[in-house]
Amino acid sequence: MGCNRVQAKDSASVFAEYNRDLVRQVMRNNAMLPGKIKTAAKNKDFYGAAFALIDMAHGMYKIKDFTPRKGYPSRWTDAIERFIDTALMGIGACGEKDIDGLNKAIAGLVALNREGHRTFR
Ligand code: HEM
Repeated sequence: MGCNRVQAKDSASVFAEYNRDLVRQVMRNNAMLPGKIKTAAKNKDFYGAAFALIDMAHGMYKIKDFTPRKGYPSRWTDAIERFIDTALMGIGACGEKDIDGLNKAIAGLVALNREGHRTFR
């Protein structure tokens, strides 16, 4: 379809109520994964890196339509979609055994983490 992003929501979409327990569970899982991805990258364990990346993306997908406690809902969804897209680019790099591409994706996720916390936390 020529669409290289997770589909954006249209303005008529309804946002879900914030589930704080789920957000914190997803975030705590997130917190373990960048270390795992970096170790996997260092060991050229592309399967392990890809698995950790999809684990992160999967968690974030579950919370992407929540109304954040702080910040705009549409921005929240957009930030999380960019996060998921970046994880998917990292997985693509794993398929190519492309260490530079994988490291670039990791750096992107770290930057999105900072942006996300600054804006919504
Ligand atoms: C590598 C990526 C990320 C990591 C490692 C991470 C890690 C964490 C951790 C450890 C917490 C505290 C959880 C707790 O209270 O036990 C947290 C909270 C939070 N994070 Fe993240 N985060 C990441 C990305 C993001 C992104 C992209 C967003 C938003 C778009 C975000 C939004 C939040 C919010 C809103 C909270 C507060 C949750 C609450 O108490 O209601 N985080 N994060």
